Amino acid sequence: MFMSADVLIRNVRMASCDPAVPGACGYLERAAVAVSDGLIAWRGDSADAPPARSVIDGGGGWLTPGLIDCHTHLVYAGSRAGEFAERSQGVSYEEITRRGGGILGTVAATRAAGERELIALALPRLRALANEGVCTVEIKSGYGLDRANELKMLRAARALGDRTGLTVSTSLLAAHALPPEFAGRADDYIDYICEDILPTAAAENLADAVDVFCEDIAFNVDQCARVFEQARRLGIPVKGHTEQFSHTGGSRLVARYGGLSVDHLEYLQACDIPHLLEHNTACVLLPGAFYTLGETRKPPLDLIRAAGLPLAVGSDLNPGSSPIASLLLIMNMACVLFGCTPEEALLGTTRYAAEALGLGARKGRIAEGYDADLVLWDIEEPAELSYGHNLVRPAAIWRGGCRANES
Ligand code: NIG
Ligand code: FE
Repeated sequence: MFMSADVLIRNVRMASCDPAVPGACGYLERAAVAVSDGLIAWRGDSADAPPARSVIDGGGGWLTPGLIDCHTHLVYAGSRAGEFAERSQGVSYEEITRRGGGILGTVAATRAAGERELIALALPRLRALANEGVCTVEIKSGYGLDRANELKMLRAARALGDRTGLTVSTSLLAAHALPPEFAGRADDYIDYICEDILPTAAAENLADAVDVFCEDIAFNVDQCARVFEQARRLGIPVKGHTEQFSHTGGSRLVARYGGLSVDHLEYLQACDIPHLLEHNTACVLLPGAFYTLGETRKPPLDLIRAAGLPLAVGSDLNPGSSPIASLLLIMNMACVLFGCTPEEALLGTTRYAAEALGLGARKGRIAEGYDADLVLWDIEEPAELSYGHNLVRPAAIWRGGCRANES
């Protein structure tokens, strides 16, 4: 036992989200946590707490791990409100995409914006997430679609982490849509990604993962496989937007490359499950896109549950299919729209979201040795986090052991 911790937070109830603690979310009553050097040094019963230089009384509130949003596209310029209005008149997302709108509309606006402008535009979105207790955010590129603009987006994402103190995990999503200059030449664009964008992003250490959009309106399985081959050569883990509008086999492909996560999954099938089990690939549900696009087909939650695969929940914050900067609302949607339990929603934005980012050994649990990303909530039970909207806010947030001010 160490001499004295930096900070002790005592008199809390805890949803540790640590599988070593019994109960779905690893609940502990009369609990306390000690923090040293930004890490959790001790966790246990308040009565056994070690001495600390600073002691905080949690007032009997609930302490959870810092929330993790494992799927966002929050760096972008422009708005797609006009397209939203069109969709309200019955034009589908796929139709808008085929006409060169949708993602390509955001590509034009994002290409025209400088890095500093992108950062300024994204900051309020990131702060909205942070004020709800999100301490770690994944941010994708995918609105640049050429080397300079994809790298500009990833640099903006890294800068956002530096500016806010949040942990940012980046994903290179050059295979998001076919840029206009490659119209009709999808295979040539894949060559360009593999030979130019990906190696440059890797050399500059800008991509923590490589993502693809595997769909009829985007890239097919063979094209995604070529991107994954190159990612593997460069030692970067992969993930995919898969089975969102149709069953393409993208999830199986991600699994074949030992990928971190498969995301969306409305059209996932039972035959995909054994493949995902091979590497325990995380299944990321994105109810914000399902809600915004007015979809009716739900991801097969029962199959994912029965298989015991890691089940994560992300905001998919983006200007088209999920313009929603609230992970708490997304947790509510996961429950109301997809039938998740509030405990699944909490684990999906803590422990399993960390696993979906390859950060499962560092984040997403209140356990010894983990990063001291912590949120104190003035609530009676953890289900309150998912149960309504705009009813609860964090009472206090610590990122890496440092108390965060409202930003
Ligand atoms: O995750 N599915 C593809 N990509 C995004 C949509 C991005 C956009 O519409 O701008 C998604 O839903
Ligand atoms: Fe997405």
